[in-house]
Amino acid sequence: MKQHIVLVGMPGCGKTSTAKKLARLFKCDWYDLDMLISDSTNKSISQLFEDLGEEKFREIERLELQKWQVDKPSILATGGGTPAFFDNMNYINAIGVSVYLEANEKFLYDRLSSKKDERPMFSGLSEGDIRVKLSKILAQREFFYKKAKYTFKLPIKAIEQLIYKELTRNNSI
Ligand code: S3P
Repeated sequence: MKQHIVLVGMPGCGKTSTAKKLARLFKCDWYDLDMLISDSTNKSISQLFEDLGEEKFREIERLELQKWQVDKPSILATGGGTPAFFDNMNYINAIGVSVYLEANEKFLYDRLSSKKDERPMFSGLSEGDIRVKLSKILAQREFFYKKAKYTFKLPIKAIEQLIYKELTRNNSI
């Protein structure tokens, strides 16, 4: 593996768990941008949203993305909103091979509704409001996600295996 792999996609699509499993296959390190943000601010993502608001969070997120400079090719799971702010998606494409985990609203809703309180974008919302918000942000962000080099449409069983197979085909990564 000669380049970083950067996973993008909506909250609930499985970026973090896929990053972990992919790292095992590629025998490399994996990182999660939200975790890096929490580590460097000593606050949870929910706390940051609460204390500073989304706009400031996006600035911190952008800085953290640019700060992520590791020598060894690794896997990075971004936050669901990362590609849609500033020039982050172009930046992602400049630093590695981007992979979009594409999921429809039903898939995302089913995964998010059980854990919504861990996600500030959805906490405190009713079922109907979560659905509305999901469809709104998906519509806003699709443009950015679609700039990814590779797209995998979920659900796919053992998605990491397929990504591994595709990306290592012809030694392209
Ligand atoms: C966000 C997604 C979250 C996190 C923050 C904002 C979003 O990451 O960065 O709560 O705007 O979609 P996940 O996609 O890992 O949930």
